[in-house]
Parts: sequence; structure tokens; C-alpha cells
Amino acid sequence: VSEYSMKNHAALMERAKKVVPGGVIGHAALAPAAHPRFYHRGEGCRVWDVDDNEYIDFMCSFGPNLLGMNHPRVERAAAEQRALGNCFTGPTERWVELAEELVRRIGYADWALFQKNGSDATSLCLTLARAATGKRKILVADGAYHTTSPWGNPSKTGVVDEDRAHFLYYRFNDLESVRRAVAEAGDDFAGLMVSPFKHDAFVDQELVDPDFARGLREICDAHSALLMMDEVRGGFRMAPRGSWESLGVHPDVAAWGKGIANGYPLSTVVGTESLRPIAAGLYSTGSFWYSAVPMAAALETLRVLDEDDVVAHITKVGTEFRTGLDSLAKTHGFALRQTGPPQMPLVLFEDDDGFAKGTFFTTDALKRGIFLHPFHNMFLSAAHSSDDIAQTLERLEASFAELARAVSDGSL
Ligand SMILES: Cc1ncc(COP(=O)(O)O)c(C=O)c1O
Repeated sequence: VSEYSMKNHAALMERAKKVVPGGVIGHAALAPAAHPRFYHRGEGCRVWDVDDNEYIDFMCSFGPNLLGMNHPRVERAAAEQRALGNCFTGPTERWVELAEELVRRIGYADWALFQKNGSDATSLCLTLARAATGKRKILVADGAYHTTSPWGNPSKTGVVDEDRAHFLYYRFNDLESVRRAVAEAGDDFAGLMVSPFKHDAFVDQELVDPDFARGLREICDAHSALLMMDEVRGGFRMAPRGSWESLGVHPDVAAWGKGIANGYPLSTVVGTESLRPIAAGLYSTGSFWYSAVPMAAALETLRVLDEDDVVAHITKVGTEFRTGLDSLAKTHGFALRQTGPPQMPLVLFEDDDGFAKGTFFTTDALKRGIFLHPFHNMFLSAAHSSDDIAQTLERLEASFAELARAVSDGSL
């Protein structure tokens, strides 16, 4: 613990601040000040920051590292494609192969379009809903994160009212609130966007109530509106073929990203047959959207996802993590609120104004080589083994003890 240093980090941040507004902005900055912002390398579930501090990483790049960093099979597939070329004037065979794979994999998908970021994909869903229905109003869950675009950016900086003129808000798992928003939309209801579960930062996560999911499908059908699913965060961690597959509730379109190519930039919108002509008529493109390396990486990532039964594995190690944390917390006199699926856990302390306990705890954990998040859901990967979880819990015992000391001596 005594060797933990952030010296290189501080120097790099000084340089960054001179040439990058804010030094580091974006989701890396969505963490307490003590959390590192700059990284040097990664392997499996371990990352090293610019001071060579090693961490067992429970953020997985906020999701993309589904199989773990530097996965040999994915890297080989990417390297093979890179040797052939990445960015051409049009797509390669990988474009068709990956679309075929997504159509084969995802029950309701009859076609796929590719983009780079989750925000591209969710925004495309809205365009499709409006183009398909000729209507304008979009319903989104209050507090849900879907995009950096002005229609849904958590910040209102630079956003004008007109950007959000046709949005109405409902509460996740509350059909009554959906019905109210639908009534307000009247005959202008184009579509409703929903996440597979409520995974907003700062507040407890909520798994979906199956009746809510079924109710959304019925309401959208009754009003000829599109049900749009944001699988960007939950996709491929909740289930390999669609997070609501087991409920039998299928959206009309869905946005996927993050874990799809194990860290390579790629997202996709998949949709049903009736939307094919509308999708074909869009002008939707980007300079890098045909890039073949991420598509080759995605094809291999999806093969590994199935062959290694990754969802079962991350659920198992996530449950070990959750159970172990609960028991350590209890031993040291703390109560945790652990919510959401175990493979994407959110861990909050009870009675924790301003996340003071969470911040103390996760900051102490950093010094012991464990990278946690105090108020955002975390992510397990295929590279986290039961041994890694055991090692994590062993080290976190000391962090709980430190926290108990800080609470009892009144310094917190
Ligand atoms: C649920 C959800 N939707 C959309 C996005 C936007 O994806 P991206 O950051 O790749 O643009 C995110 C990113 O965190 C997300 O969690």
C-alpha cells in the first residue's frame, strides 16, 4: 500500500490540461478524484495505470472488455484482418458475415446496420421510428442514459429546448407512467426506448418486471409505435441472444455496442423485416463505419461468447463477488445495497450521503490493487476467474476494516 504512487499520472494530467480542455473529460472522469484516469496496458482482467499500479479491473472500460483485455483469439482475428486492410472505400466480406451472424443469433433481427458508438446506434433507432411511423414523439425512461447527443445528454450544456421538443418521460417498471406519456403523445407517438434493466448511475438498479416488458410490447403495438431496446450496456452480458429473449418480448429495433467486439469500436442496430425498406432508405454512414478490423474482432468475440458460455461464467463470478462483499460488509458492520444482475453489479453503502463511504472504500481498494466504482454499475468479464474474485475479496477485507476505523474515529 505504501508504494502506491500517482506521480506519473499527476504529471500527465498537468500536460493534458494544457492541451485538452479539462484534461480528461467523459466517463473516465465520472469517478472520484483519486481514481486513475490514464492507463498504460491491460491483460485479461488486469490493467496497469501510467504509474504501473496494477489493478484487478471491475469496470472493463465501462463494458467493452467482455472477454478481458488482449484476448488471444480476438486479437488474432483482428491482426489477420489488419494484415489485409482495415479502412476501404466500402465494406469487406466481414460486413456481410457479421450481419448474417447477428441475424442468426438475435431472434427478432432480420437485418443489421453498423456504426461506431452506442450513441450512433440509439440515435439511428429514433430516426427509424420517426421514418417508419411518420410520427414524432419518443418516450424514454426518466434518468436513463442512451446517448451523448443533445436529445439525451445528461448535461444540458449547449442543448436547446428544441433538441428535446418531442421527448416524453416514463418511469422504468411503471406501466401507468408509460400510459400517461402515451396519452400525452396522442396520435404523435413514434416509439419508446427501453433498457433491458434500469442501470442508471447513482441509484439502485432494477431488474425488469416481466409484466412491464410485456405491457410495453402491447402498448407499442396498440399505437403502431416502435419498441426500441437499448442493449448497448446490457447486451451480451445479460444473455447471448437478447436480454429479453427469455421473456419472449421482442423489440422492433435494438441498439448494441460496447462488448460486441471486445474493445474494438463497433455498434449495430438490428431490426425486424417490416422496417427493412425504411432502413434501406436512410442516409446513414460515417468515415470509419465500414472498418473491417472491428467486424473481424466482433465475429470472433461472438464465437467465444458461445463456446466459453461467457454469460454463465460472468454470472457465476459476479455472484461470488456479491456474496463475498455482503459477508465482508456484515463482518465490519456495514450494510450494502447490491442491485442489478451480478455480472453488472452496482454496490452502494446504506446511509451514505454523497457516496462518502463508497468513495473512501473504493479509493482504499485502489491502493490494494482493486479497481471498483462507488456509484456506477461495474462489469465482470470472461477473464475474471474465481481465484481473481477470491483475491479481490481478501484484499477488500482490509478496505472494509479501514472504512470501519474511519467511521468509528469520526474522520468520515
Ligand atoms: C445504455 C447505454 N446506451 C448508450 C450508450 C452510449 O454508447 P457510446 O458511449 O458507445 O456512445 C451507453 C454508454 O455508456 C449506454 O450505457
